[in-house]
Amino acid sequence: MPILLRRMALYLLPLLAVICLSLGQAAFAQSGVDPNVAQPAPQASPEGGQVPGGVRGTTSDADMWRAVRQGTFGTVSIPDRKAGQLIQSEGENWRVVRNGAVSYYGIWGLLGMIGLLALFFLVRGRIMIEAGKDGRTITRFDFTERMAHWLLGVSFILLALTGLNILYGRYVIMPVVGPEIFGAVTNFGKHVHNYISFAFMVGLLMVFVMWVGRNIPGRTDLKWLMKAGGLFSKGGHASSHKFNAGQKILYWLVLLLGLSVSLSGIALLFPFEFPLFAKTFAFLNVFGFDLPTTLSVVQEMQLAQIWHAIIGLVMIGIILGHIYIGTIGMQGAFAAMGSGQVDLNWAREHHDLWVEEKLSRRGDDAVHGGPAPKAHPAE
Ligand code: HEM
Repeated sequence: MPILLRRMALYLLPLLAVICLSLGQAAFAQSGVDPNVAQPAPQASPEGGQVPGGVRGTTSDADMWRAVRQGTFGTVSIPDRKAGQLIQSEGENWRVVRNGAVSYYGIWGLLGMIGLLALFFLVRGRIMIEAGKDGRTITRFDFTERMAHWLLGVSFILLALTGLNILYGRYVIMPVVGPEIFGAVTNFGKHVHNYISFAFMVGLLMVFVMWVGRNIPGRTDLKWLMKAGGLFSKGGHASSHKFNAGQKILYWLVLLLGLSVSLSGIALLFPFEFPLFAKTFAFLNVFGFDLPTTLSVVQEMQLAQIWHAIIGLVMIGIILGHIYIGTIGMQGAFAAMGSGQVDLNWAREHHDLWVEEKLSRRGDDAVHGGPAPKAHPAE
């Protein structure tokens, strides 16, 4: 038996070698490469990759995946053209900026603002009516004005709380209540955010129409600013009409930032329908900027989200200052938006020119309450 095996091996091995050699030659012949001739270095493909042997055309797998990774657009047969992009790298940048710089500076900015207000309160204390209350009042804002203000104010506060939850809730609230409750609350909050935004826009429009005439800057505002409104010194009141320079600045900031936050919010609410950034960038480039003007619809959404978050955070910071001065920061201020009636001395100290204007127009009728009018002797 062993002898038989040895003999078979003797005949079979050379046969196997010949078969292998001829198969190899056939393969090389098919590829057009002669194994006996030195081969030139592999050709670089147009994308820069190298294809060893060049057996499968000029595009290697590496090149293809590199292009996919770099966000190349393929073609798809469905109407949604953006589905032709497998990897959108800007998405990673967006995530890093949103969860990094925007969240980080956002929270420090807000905490910084609260710190500054606390410091101001400690140093300056509550701004009091220096002459004391007069007892008589004057109408500061009528019902429509107050309704518009609170429509704007309450909707903004709801938007701010639900917006902050979207940005920071997972770090602050989720560890306390757990993912299930947090998920349900955030889902509800997101719907509140979406729908309440319309109330905010209506409030913004009303405030614009009602107060724009009173918020045109004038010479008195310059004087008010030079004195910093007398905010930092007792007895240093600066003259002002219905709105002082500080209030006018707040008014225009609320309107412009409010408009911007609304537009970017609408772009987020109706995805891919309102690409605003390429057009805005093209406009800004007229002033020497060098911003990209061809953006995919997905990039537009990412920019809208980042911009919406930044403007929202800036507005919250500003409104914290406004809420402070309208409540604990200044005696007598809240009544202006509460009952609409402010103490006459408060009005004289903060808006002297407006009081004069009102008294000259309506005389004593502008003033309410106080000592009863003198009785006239019967004739
Ligand atoms: C708890 C929240 C708020 C309080 C207590 C508050 C209080 C006040 C008060 C007292 C005034 C009248 C000031 C005066 O008589 O001179 C006022 C005016 C105003 N508020 Fe508010 N407000 C609040 C929220 C908001 C919000 C969220 C916005 C905008 C997003 C806003 C925008 C304005 C504007 C534009 C004015 C007119 C300009 C000015 O007086 O500063 N307020 N607010």
